Amino acid sequence: MISNKLHTSSGRRLEGKVAVITGGAAGIGKTTAKLFCQQGCKVLIADIQDELGHSVCHEIGPEMSSFIHCDVTKEDDVKKAVDEAITRFGKLDIMFNNAGAIDPPKIKIMDNEKSDFDNVLSVNVTGVFLGTKHAARVMLPLKQGSIINNGSVSSIMGGIASHAYVASKHAVVGLTKNAAAELGRSGIRVNCVSAFAIGSPFFRNLVKEYDDDEIEKRVEKMSSLKGVTLTAQDIAEAVLYFGSDESICVSGHNFVIDKGFTVTNTNFGMFNQLNS
Ligand SMILES: NC(=O)c1ccc[n+]([C@@H]2O[C@H](COP(=O)([O-])OP(=O)(O)OC[C@H]3O[C@@H](n4cnc5c(N)ncnc54)[C@H](O)[C@@H]3O)[C@@H](O)[C@H]2O)c1
Repeated sequence: MISNKLHTSSGRRLEGKVAVITGGAAGIGKTTAKLFCQQGCKVLIADIQDELGHSVCHEIGPEMSSFIHCDVTKEDDVKKAVDEAITRFGKLDIMFNNAGAIDPPKIKIMDNEKSDFDNVLSVNVTGVFLGTKHAARVMLPLKQGSIINNGSVSSIMGGIASHAYVASKHAVVGLTKNAAAELGRSGIRVNCVSAFAIGSPFFRNLVKEYDDDEIEKRVEKMSSLKGVTLTAQDIAEAVLYFGSDESICVSGHNFVIDKGFTVTNTNFGMFNQLNS
């Protein structure tokens, strides 16, 4: 049996671990890469944006990080990324399937193109499938490892993003549960993190008419938890928990980080009469 090793000698929560982060050149993936390294984890960033990926590694330092060009929709790229983590850092403890895509916002299904739908499903679902498969390939012989998928509040609600995006994020949760059911038998944990909107280029593609301030105002209005700003750091902290041995008995979860957005309908409810 593996026991919970909460206290590493350095006090860092991922001391000695190795992670692959897809989509680690920007946004949530980049923030997670930096946090992981601060916590003692070596990180391989796998992304299609080579220049940005290299610059993140430059910021973190070459001893703790490395970059590989990887399109998560291509099995050979994902296989090479996982193998590179082993070659460069000797093992793989954590796989963060974070890379994501969103299609141009078109409200009516009649205006949605199959090619856009296929692209979103390919990155958001096939990419997570391939990342899970190849992480499992190297984790299974050692009977341990943590796989974390990036979902969204769109994984549990309809009507807040495009058909392709909502369908893809629901699928990510299904895949998370199914992989947890299989891989848990071999000691590998699989979990999902699902965030509400953070002001980022990714989200601005969805609502092009709003700037970051306006997005934050609207998120605040729709959230039941007031007075705090949701940022990439909050998602990274949750991923850190799932990557660390603190969550050694946790698998198959979809952990929602949304300032209470999904727990109630803020347009209607008995607490609306309360002043904040
Ligand atoms: N930003 C938000 O508000 C938000 C909210 C909930 C969930 N998410 C999810 O978080 C994840 C990361 O989003 P973000 O906000 O950091 O976006 P981002 O655009 O800042 O970063 C995404 C990264 O993924 C990379 N990427 C895209 N396609 C890829 C591919 N085929 N192969 C490899 N890398 C690829 C991009 O190059 C980029 O570096 C996504 O899965 C997204 O669905 C984002």
